[in-house]
Amino acid sequence: MKQGKLFLKNKKTYFDYAILTFLTEVEDFLNVKPGNFFMLQANTLLKKPISVMDCNKRDKMLKFLVKKIGKGTEFLYNLNPGETIDAIGPSGNSFPIDETGEYILVGGGSGIPPLYFLSKQIEKSRHTVVYGGRTKKDIVPIFGKSAPTIITTENGELGIKGTVIDGIKKVIEKNNFKKPIILSCGPEGMVKAIKKNFPDIPHYTSLERYMACGFGVCLGCVVETNEGYKRVCVDGPVFNINELKELK
Ligand SMILES: Cc1cc2nc3c(=O)[nH]c(=O)nc-3n(C[C@H](O)[C@H](O)[C@H](O)COP(=O)(O)OP(=O)(O)OC[C@H]3O[C@@H](n4cnc5c(N)ncnc54)[C@H](O)[C@@H]3O)c2cc1C
Ligand code: FES
Repeated sequence: MKQGKLFLKNKKTYFDYAILTFLTEVEDFLNVKPGNFFMLQANTLLKKPISVMDCNKRDKMLKFLVKKIGKGTEFLYNLNPGETIDAIGPSGNSFPIDETGEYILVGGGSGIPPLYFLSKQIEKSRHTVVYGGRTKKDIVPIFGKSAPTIITTENGELGIKGTVIDGIKKVIEKNNFKKPIILSCGPEGMVKAIKKNFPDIPHYTSLERYMACGFGVCLGCVVETNEGYKRVCVDGPVFNINELKELK
């Protein structure tokens, strides 16, 4: 984990979401895995945890997708190309994947960025993305043809009318996966619903917690697990769902 600068090269907005493409000279910033996050400067004092959406070592590029919900994320959303911010990272663990697994990547809202990064590392034949939102304003068009994707919206504006649960059922129906594994990131209600509906499918999720320090000292981000309390910022953010007492 390093501290350094990120230079904003390019910004694209989509309703409340901004895709921020930064350049950096900090080599260690580019050693990232899907699930890792950075504490990004979110005004003169605050830093906020934001997952890596993409990384390209050759171009020294790091990409993030930010949803504007409060003061910190609004600061990031309003950055302009040419501006530089402070960052600390990469932090946290990553999603477990191996050569043989068959994966269902399930994301909602600002939970989609690490899954985009992850999907680029798994062969198309071995995974499908289920991307859910309330309306089409929640579905940022990032995947294109880069991954097999099922979109769900609650009002039916885009993709299947329903929630990610309907999307996962569709994947199971359509794909010939022998032993699927769910990798998720999104609102806690979504994650609980997945666990309830698919209790027998192995499931790893990236948790969101309020983070003050982001490197393990303030204990502001703890979560209760079968082995006692763990810190989401350094022991997570990715956990096996069966480990988590709060999601039972
Ligand atoms: C490991 C990790 C990775 C993350 N990755 C991303 C990412 O890639 N992109 C991204 O946009 N966000 C991501 N987040 C969430 C992001 O850090 C928070 O949304 C952010 O800290 C909110 O800060 P704020 O100052 O904008 O809002 P605050 O002022 O802290 O909160 C504003 C209001 O929004 C509510 N609120 C806070 N968080 C949420 C939420 N998640 N959903 C709905 N309401 C909320 C608060 O209760 C409050 O009422 C991640 C969080 C973690 C822990
Ligand atoms: S945010 Fe401080 S210990 Fe995790």
